[in-house]
Amino acid sequence: KTRVAVLISGRGSNMAALIEAAKAPGYPAEIVAVLSNRPDAKGLELARAAGLHAEAVDHKAFSSREEFEAALEARLEVHVADIVALAGFMRLMTPSFVERWAGRMINIHPALLPAFKGLHTHERALAAGVRLHGCTVHYVTPGMDEGPIIAQAAVPVLAGDTADVLGARVLAAEHRLYPAALARVARGEAPIVAGRVAITGEDLLLG
Ligand code: GAR
Repeated sequence: KTRVAVLISGRGSNMAALIEAAKAPGYPAEIVAVLSNRPDAKGLELARAAGLHAEAVDHKAFSSREEFEAALEARLEVHVADIVALAGFMRLMTPSFVERWAGRMINIHPALLPAFKGLHTHERALAAGVRLHGCTVHYVTPGMDEGPIIAQAAVPVLAGDTADVLGARVLAAEHRLYPAALARVARGEAPIVAGRVAITGEDLLLG
């Protein structure tokens, strides 16, 4: 099975969805470690409760981004991770770290990229008046939220939505999308061809 390290910074609900999915016998990936840049991340407790190895690599304990990333890299090596899955990991990585993991590091973003890169996506979707919103799993490249798109799920924006209500609808979609997208990557079914993920096999647009 493909060995996956999940990187988190907080709640860890997407991480929990990946852990749950990976329990299925036919799932092509196993979660070998959960790492958090924040020692107080709730997700660390969740991961330990699920019997996984979970540890903090506190970015504040290092004097530079490079040193923090070297520590992270060392943990990834110890656990022999094939793939890194960012799940609410809120630190930007240096280009050299990103390049080292090119094609092997994925992220989930709470919007239909390339719309609404960055933060506060649900507020911005409401302000823009879009009728469809959603989430995207993509390969990580040096440009923030710019990498090749692996899978997307769309949800409607409904009358009376607040950012919280809309965000909860998107989050439920994230929890279905991320395990499906990771499985596709682990099976080698999301190859990057000329800068985009080639569309192969079944469609991964979850509605
Ligand atoms: C998720 O909505 C994820 O898409 C988002 O943070 C949340 C983490 O929740 N990620 C980003 O905004 C990345 N820039 P979780 O910790 O419960 O999975």
